[in-house]
Amino acid sequence: APEPATLVIFGVTGDLSRRKLLPAVFGLWQDGLLGSAFNIVGVGRQEMTDEEFKDYAIAALQESKETDTIQPGSLEKFRELLYYEFGEFGGDEVYNLVGKELDRAEAAHGGRKNALFYLSTPPSLFEPISNGLGRLGLCDQSEGWRRLVIEKPFGRDLASARELNAAIHESWDESQVYRIDHYLGKETVQNLMAIRFGNAIFEPLWNRGYVDHVQITASEDLGLEGRAGYYEEAGIVRDMLQNHLMQLFALTAMEAPAAFDADAIRDEKTKVLRAVKPIPRDRVDSVAVRGQYGAGSEDGQKVPGYRQEPGVKDESRTATYVAVKLEIDNWRWQGVPFFLRTGKRLPKKVTEIAVVFKRAPLGIFPGGLERNVLAFRIQPDEGVSLKFSSKSPGQEMELREVVMDFRYDAFGAQLESPYSRLLLDALIGDATLFPREDEVDHAWQIVSGILEAWNTAPDGDGDAPDFPNYAAGTWGPEEADELIGVDRRWRRL
Ligand code: BG6
Repeated sequence: APEPATLVIFGVTGDLSRRKLLPAVFGLWQDGLLGSAFNIVGVGRQEMTDEEFKDYAIAALQESKETDTIQPGSLEKFRELLYYEFGEFGGDEVYNLVGKELDRAEAAHGGRKNALFYLSTPPSLFEPISNGLGRLGLCDQSEGWRRLVIEKPFGRDLASARELNAAIHESWDESQVYRIDHYLGKETVQNLMAIRFGNAIFEPLWNRGYVDHVQITASEDLGLEGRAGYYEEAGIVRDMLQNHLMQLFALTAMEAPAAFDADAIRDEKTKVLRAVKPIPRDRVDSVAVRGQYGAGSEDGQKVPGYRQEPGVKDESRTATYVAVKLEIDNWRWQGVPFFLRTGKRLPKKVTEIAVVFKRAPLGIFPGGLERNVLAFRIQPDEGVSLKFSSKSPGQEMELREVVMDFRYDAFGAQLESPYSRLLLDALIGDATLFPREDEVDHAWQIVSGILEAWNTAPDGDGDAPDFPNYAAGTWGPEEADELIGVDRRWRRL
C-alpha cells in the first residue's frame, strides 16, 4: 500500500473526475489498496460545502458504470475521507486552503504530508495551477513527497508543450511530474511489453527481416458525445494521435529495455520516437490522410454529420479521422512502414496492433501466399491472435488462413480500469507508465508537420479540406486505402 497521503483533485466537478477518477479511487480504497490513512480533497471553482461535495461524489459513484460493486457500508465510510475547497486558480487563497487540508491530514493520520495533486482540469489551467502550487511552496518535499499528475492534452503543439514543460519545471522536478496517458494503464497495453520481452520466440522476428509492416488502429463508433467545445479545438491529431497512438507505436517499435523500470523503458521509447522520420509540412499529403464524418448510420441508427453536432461550426475544418504512415530510421525498422489510423464514427470500437509479416519466400502450393499476422487486441475482446495458413482438409493441397487465439478472459479476472492502475502507480511513485518530458516532446515533433500543414485555426493558412469525406459508420476516407498502398490493405476489424 502507498504511504499515508492526500489526493488533491483539481477540477473535481468535471466529467473525467466524475466518470473515471472518483470510481477508480473508490475501487482502490474498497479493495484495501490505499491503506487507512488516506483522504481526498476535491478542488473546484464552484462554491460548495464539504457536505455538498460528499453528496456529489457519492452520487457520481452510484451513477458511474465504472464503479465496482459497492459493499454494504462502504459508501458511508468513503464519504468520511472527502473534503472540498474552492477558489480561483489564478489567486493564492485556494492553494492556502489546500495547504491547510494537508496540515489537517497530517494531524489526523500522523506521518508526513504526502500529497498527489491531480490536474483534471481544462488544459488552460495546467500552468496556473502548477504555478500556484509552486508559489505557495506546495511542491516542496521536505515535509513529505509531492507529485503532480497532469491530464492530456499536454500542450496543443510542440511550442506550447515546451512552454508548459518549462513552466512546470519552474516549481517541479521532472521526477515529481506524472503525465497521464490512460492507454498505458490498459492491461493489454502492458501485455505488449510482457509478450515482447517475456518470450524468446517473438523478438527474433521483430524486425525488417521478417516484418512487412505494422498497423495500429484505434477506431471508435461514438461521435462527439457533447464535447464540441474541446474537440473543435483539439481534433483527432491532438486528441488521439499525438498521445495514445504514439504510445502504442513506441511500445511496439522500441528496443528491449535493460530493465523493467521507468527510466530504462522511457529511454527506449524516446529513442525510437527520435528515429521516426519527421514529416515535413510540404510532404504531409503523401504520408497522412485526414477525414471528417458526414451524416450516416451507426448500428442501424441514423446519426448526424460532425458539422451538425451541437456546438460545431457549419464550416468546421476539424478532422475526426487521421491515418499516417511512419518510417523509422534505425537498423531494426529501416523500410518497414508503420500505419496508424484512428477516427470517430467508424463502424465499431476496436483498438488493435497488428504486426504483418512478410510472405514465405517461395510459393510451392496452388494459390497465393498470405502474410502471417500477429495481432494484439487492446480492446474489446482483449487478447492476442496469430493468423497463419494451414492445409484445409481434403484431397487437394489447399491452404486456408486459420487463427490461433488467446483471450484475456481465460484468466477469469475482471480487467481493471486504467485509471486505478495509474493512480496507484502515482501514489506509489512508479513513473514507468507515464510519458516523460522528452517522449512527449518527440511525439509532438512527429505530428507537428501535420498540424502545420492542416492548420485549420480561424487565421490558419492550411488548405481547405474536402470535408465531410466519409459517412458515419464507414471506415474513413478512401484516400486511406491509397496510403497503405497497392499490395497491402487495412485489416477488416
Ligand atoms: C480520450 C479521448 O483520451 O480517449 C476521447 O479524449 C476518446 O476522445 C478516448 O474517446 C478513448 O479512450 P478509450 O479508453 O475508450 O479507448
